[in-house]
Amino acid sequence: MLKKVAILANGGDVSGFNAVIRAIVKTAENNNVECYGFIDGYNGLLKNEYERLSTSNCSVASGILPKGGSIIGSSTNANVFNYKVEENGQVVYKDLSDICVQNIKDDGFDCLFTLGGDGTQKSARDFSTKGVNIIGVPKTIDNDVACTEITFGYNTAVSVAAEALDRLHTTGETHHRIMVLEVMGRYAGWIALESAIAGGADIALIPEIPYDINKAVEKINQRKNAGKNFSIVVVAEGAAPQGGSITIASTRDNGIGVDNTKLGGIGQIVAKELEKLTGLEARNTTLGYMQRGGTPTAFDRVLSTKYGAKAMELALEGKFGVLTVIKNGKLDYVSLEDVVGNNTKIGAVSGNTAESNIRKITMDHDLVKTALNIGICLGN
Ligand code: F6P
Repeated sequence: MLKKVAILANGGDVSGFNAVIRAIVKTAENNNVECYGFIDGYNGLLKNEYERLSTSNCSVASGILPKGGSIIGSSTNANVFNYKVEENGQVVYKDLSDICVQNIKDDGFDCLFTLGGDGTQKSARDFSTKGVNIIGVPKTIDNDVACTEITFGYNTAVSVAAEALDRLHTTGETHHRIMVLEVMGRYAGWIALESAIAGGADIALIPEIPYDINKAVEKINQRKNAGKNFSIVVVAEGAAPQGGSITIASTRDNGIGVDNTKLGGIGQIVAKELEKLTGLEARNTTLGYMQRGGTPTAFDRVLSTKYGAKAMELALEGKFGVLTVIKNGKLDYVSLEDVVGNNTKIGAVSGNTAESNIRKITMDHDLVKTALNIGICLGN
């Protein structure tokens, strides 16, 4: 019998975190299960910091459906299987996962829900191998979690990018400029490609297709010859030229087994090159954290609610070691083993690293075909 469960939100925040939390809490309450939230993701699990989540008497989990961020915080890059600690003035990396397992036991949690992207779910799978009852819920604006067709937070990010493109359109048209929008997405081009279609862009450069800048120039010149003296370009932060490499804004040291590179800067590079090669003025806008903050779209509120309710339903059925997913358009679940793919080594690698099993755009995807059919240049 399920009595007491805990939730943690981990990784970069997205709009929809709170909607998932609310759905888990509500479904739990309807089944007489008590809900708690660890503070700041896996860091809270390690420190055993948690709070009660309830919707009654104006408690913390009430009125949070439209609220951005996460009411229980989140941590980026906390790999508790390879955790950075200082000992005698020296930085060392330690596997502290057993402390987390003990905390869960001592606190009496019958199940842990992990809301997060590929790194979070990799750690969830590793905890599952240690006997923890765990259920993952796929989060990220990047939409790159394996085994699901969509992650919560993605739709809101695409909507924000599409709105930005609408705004860039009018100023670009007025001043006869090339307007470049750099969007997030890490090593996948989902946000870039979908927002390019939604926002009527002329060119979309994505990590999955190394680009030839001359192809973009050709497209802009074609438009010029047709009397259109402005163009709209979407560039994914992870896009790279043919034979070139990804642009890194900075590096950090958040420990082993996590992505320590901060991508960014390719939009400005592309804008400068296009200006030089076309003779048109070009401006770059980097959309940044606008894509992650603020209220979720109606779509994300519904998706998050479906995911949260399903996760609790699975817990009540005793189905652990799984991730809630959308498969063939339907709410479903898969084993966390399938989610990590070949990235099976326990603890050594967390998220967004070369070994991560992430879902990228394939060339036979509807979005690619649609973009090409309507003449969006993909830089190849
Ligand atoms: O994974 C989500 C994401 O927003 C990426 O699109 C982006 O590259 C990264 O996180 C930014 O990370 P941080 O919050 O550490 O700057």
